[in-house]
Amino acid sequence: MYTITLIRGDGIGPEIAESVVEIFAAAEVPIQWEEAYAGLACLERFGTPIPEATLESIRRNRVALKGPTTTPIGGGHRSINVAIRKAFELFANVRPARSIPGVQTRYNDIDLILVRENIEDTYAGVEYWQTPDVAESLRLISRPGSSAVIRYAFDLARRLGRRKVTCVHKANIQKVSDGLFLECFREIAQEYPDIESDDILVDNACMQLVMRPERFDVLVLPNLFGDIVSDLCAGLIGGLGVAPGGNIGNGYAVFEAVHGSAPDIAGKGIANPTAFILSAVQMLRHLGLHGDAERIENALRYALVSGIKTRDLGGNASTREFTKAVISNLPPRSQVQAQNEPVSEPYRTPMLPPRATESEGWQTVGVDLFFHTLQPPTDLPEQVGRLRLRAISNRGVALEANTTDERYLLNWFRARYLAEQPVSEAELMELLNTLAPRLHWTTLQRLYRSREGVDLFSPILAE
Ligand code: NAI
Repeated sequence: MYTITLIRGDGIGPEIAESVVEIFAAAEVPIQWEEAYAGLACLERFGTPIPEATLESIRRNRVALKGPTTTPIGGGHRSINVAIRKAFELFANVRPARSIPGVQTRYNDIDLILVRENIEDTYAGVEYWQTPDVAESLRLISRPGSSAVIRYAFDLARRLGRRKVTCVHKANIQKVSDGLFLECFREIAQEYPDIESDDILVDNACMQLVMRPERFDVLVLPNLFGDIVSDLCAGLIGGLGVAPGGNIGNGYAVFEAVHGSAPDIAGKGIANPTAFILSAVQMLRHLGLHGDAERIENALRYALVSGIKTRDLGGNASTREFTKAVISNLPPRSQVQAQNEPVSEPYRTPMLPPRATESEGWQTVGVDLFFHTLQPPTDLPEQVGRLRLRAISNRGVALEANTTDERYLLNWFRARYLAEQPVSEAELMELLNTLAPRLHWTTLQRLYRSREGVDLFSPILAE
């Protein structure tokens, strides 16, 4: 018997949660619920949108099923989803997309699982105004973060008997950051010789998903691409009302539908519980309760095929009527092929330990200095000590190549000073002392070269 934290949430949350509770009871799933609270209703009742007792419950049970919560606007309240994601380091967002018979879409044979990195990328939220005209967002991709989500994608593929994992990226343009994601993917793929692996550029992936979705099986993506492509996949199977999801971390997992609390239909008894039921089914598979998962998923499918649907899917059933239909379609245990293989230990993957640049043999060979000026500078020193001015660039492109062109220049420039050999801290300080009085600098970026002599920064583009 598993104890699972149940957060019913706001809006339609309590209605769709009740549907799952009833179906699980009828199916005699070996689960007992521990109720916990989060959301707007919780804020009104307990003065906080996510009480410590809720986090404590998830910590204790390690698995939670969470209904949608309304994010209270203003007042400095913590975002509930961010609080949960941070507290439990939920690094993978897993969204299966499987066609549901009876749900009208353009496709009828979709069977994909999308695994999205859940913490890093532009979602790390490291952003700055650099000048009144220029905003900058840091796209943070790390080896430990990428490895954890990629390893999870392969482990999931193996556990569910899937044939292939595809890495979706943009490493032709984001050569350093997506290059690292792809490098981690290729390394880890070698440890799973039983599973096919390939990679594809994200733009092509979007086209292929629409034209030949059967080409894909499990997809793994950095956060922002994952966010966008997972909605595309939800669209392939019928949209928000049927799209389930789960957040997986080291030792913890929180499952929830993709949709929100739908305040426009809350309390009317017409919400579609399908996405939440499928999220609960995904949770059962995570726990190894494959037999129970298959029974409930089949019952849901039979109910929809028999034409019992909520309004959002073109029917007129209420949430309760639909729930009853699912329960009445539960097949006997003997009719399902999958067997329960309860997982006793929560999923864990070793996080890579942090490494020091010195022990990796990285050496500083220069700096990029970003600065704010209205006119292109003409008086920067060509050389300071051993550091030579290699290029001044604007919007990533070198200026020298454009002295006569009519290119629009932003008021944010970059000067790259590089040396042939590694430089000392004193040489860097001398450069900064020389430049600082001449320009209004905003950012100083160190440039490394690896032990093997590879530059660990992107070249400045020349037109
Ligand atoms: P929403 O997903 O709640 O609703 C969008 C539209 O889809 C509405 O017309 C709604 O009626 C419909 N819809 C959604 N789920 C449905 C279901 N199960 N059955 C039938 N119709 C359904 O998105 P919205 O309106 O942008 O957000 C409402 C609130 O939900 C906001 O406070 C938002 O912050 C929160 N939210 C919470 C999430 C979570 O807790 N994981 C995720 C997304 C939004």
